[in-house]
This record gives sequence, structure tokens and C-alpha cells, in this order.
Amino acid sequence: MLILAIETSCDDTGAAVILDGRKILSNVVSSQVSVHQKYGGVVPELASRKHIESIVPIVTEALETAKVTLKEIDGIAVTQGPGLVGSLLVGLSFAKSIAFARGLPFIGVNHIEAHLSAIFLEEKPPRFPFIGLVVSGGHTSLFRIDGFGKYKRLGQTRDDAAGEAFDKVAKLLGLGYPGGPIIDELSKAGNPKAIRFPRPLLSKNSFDFSFSGLKTAVVNYVKAHPEPPGGYPEDLIKDIVSSFQEAVVEVLVKKTVQAAQHQGLKRIVLSGGVAANQRLRQKIREESFEQKLKVYLPSPSFCTDNAAMVGVVGYEYLKRGIRSPLSLNAFSNLPL
Ligand code: KG4
Ligand code: ZN
Repeated sequence: MLILAIETSCDDTGAAVILDGRKILSNVVSSQVSVHQKYGGVVPELASRKHIESIVPIVTEALETAKVTLKEIDGIAVTQGPGLVGSLLVGLSFAKSIAFARGLPFIGVNHIEAHLSAIFLEEKPPRFPFIGLVVSGGHTSLFRIDGFGKYKRLGQTRDDAAGEAFDKVAKLLGLGYPGGPIIDELSKAGNPKAIRFPRPLLSKNSFDFSFSGLKTAVVNYVKAHPEPPGGYPEDLIKDIVSSFQEAVVEVLVKKTVQAAQHQGLKRIVLSGGVAANQRLRQKIREESFEQKLKVYLPSPSFCTDNAAMVGVVGYEYLKRGIRSPLSLNAFSNLPL
């Protein structure tokens, strides 16, 4: 089954052609970073306008790269939510138009489910059940996953998502947008133990997260150490971001491992943009090894937003004969 998948939940326009939910024939992502950079975050109105400009060229490129035409496509999958509603509507309307015009089966996909399923694009995916951590710009949630469509949420952030915290700290320090990859790189040269930032909500009984207090701790640290005339010394910036990153990573790793132990599961899957973070990947590998758990990490390009992961989920539903109506609407808070 050949699926054309489309993803426009936030600021990346993505299109992919996926064979049998596993094999990528094409996976094109057009980033809007240059549009939003000067605002230090995604501007929803600009994001939807940019999607409108990009959607036709990106879908065309995905078909051309895959060397297929619409005639050969068996089904259309598209992100329905959660995300920015104006952005979602561009992809959704476009996907519905193709499905209607060509009489193709059509399915709306939950963006969180897509992130959790990105691991099935890898050569050796896990068996069910497993613990899945979704950690992105909009979400930080832990799930028990017993199969496609079988999700039990164990915990989630009570305030900021982890990626949001990375982006806000980077903005505070004037480092640029998006903050995650910038902090990831800068941290390598910093001392993660230089500043002891708080490790929020590390009590054993809860799988919820909270990152806004940690962000405030960074704000307070910066206020207590006013910028000298020539700007902060580079080494101090590196120590701040490295120490901040270490706190985020420690909380994510500990909670995920605790969730696996609590559920009696041996397999852990990470997903979402922050799962591309090198320190997080290293730490979860180390901790899993120590605790005799097996960890599965999608390649970094499958962690951040992409349409291939939407194709994985779309295939699982379409092959079971599940379809969405063409009246399907986009929802910014679509639950999983
Ligand atoms: O999954 P994603 O592309 O979009 C959402 O669904 O939100 O995640 C984007 C988020 C941003 O907050 C970005 O700063 C963060 O993921 N991110 C990272 C890294 N790469 C992306 N955070 C930490 N380290 C990274 N290497
Ligand atoms: Zn995402």
C-alpha cells in the first residue's frame, strides 16, 4: 500500500511517500525557521501563510522523489491535530481535496501518535508493549503502548513542554531559535555541573513533569548575574545551558525509566524533537543499560516533525479499513 502523507501541524511543511507503512520512498520537510527566527518563536499567522505557499511544491517534490504519480497512491494520511489550527487546516484541506478528487481512502492522524510511531521507520523497531516518551516543543508525555491505537497516558507536563523550555532559555540568553539544537551544541563545551538547577517533580509516585520552575531558575540566575558591558563571557553561557540541559535530561531519563519499572516493561522508545538531543540520547542509553532495559531511538530526522511518521500511522489504520470522513476537522488539542 502506497501512502501519501502530509504534516503541517506547526512550522514545518512535510510530505512523504511510504510503502506499506515502513519503507520511505520520499520524506521532504521544508523548514520555516528563517521566517520565525527574528520573532524568537513560531508566529501562527505567518506559519499558516507559509504552509499555503509550500504545500504544492513540497507534495510535488515528495511524489517526484519517490518516482510515483498520484495515480499510484493508494491512500492519503494527514495530521489532524494537535497543533496550530491554522497550520493544520492547510495540510488537512489539501489532503482532503486530493482524496476527494481522486476518490482515495483518507485518514486523519494524531500528531502525538505519529511521533510515537516514528520508531517503526527504523530497521529494528520494538515489539509491543513499550514505554513511549514524547518530548517536543508542544508536548512532554509518557505513555504505555500496547499496540497501534492502544495508548495509556501515564503522565504529562503540568506547564511547559521540555522543548518549549529549551526554546525559552535560548531566547532569554539571546542564542537564537529554535533553542534546542543550539543549546545541544553549546552544551558540549560547558560544564553540566557548574550550576545546580532544580530537578522538578522527581517524586517517585508521579509521572508528570514541570519545566516552568526550571526555566524561572535560569531567569533568576541570569538576573543575579547581570550581563557585563561586553556581554556574557562565552564560557558562562556554555555552563548555564549545559547545566540547564543536564537538569532537563536527568528528569526525562529518571521518569521514563521509573515508568518502565512501574509498568514492568523492558522496552523504552523516545520520540519528538527533543529526542534528537545528544545528551538525552547518551543518558537514556547509559541508564537503560544499567537498569537492563532496551532503549529505541529514532534517527534525529525522524524525531523532529516529518510526514513519514504520519504515513506509518496512516497505513496501520487504512490497512484495517479505518477511514476518516471528508468532513474531518482540525483540532489544536486533539487528545490521544
Ligand atoms: O517534534 P518537533 O519538531 O515539533 C513539535 O511537535 O513541537 O519539536 C520541536 C522542539 C523544539 O522545541 C526544539 O527546540 C526541540 O524540539 N529540539 C531539540 C533538539 N532538536 C529539536 N531540543 C533539544 N535538543 C535538540 N537537539
Ligand atoms: Zn511534533
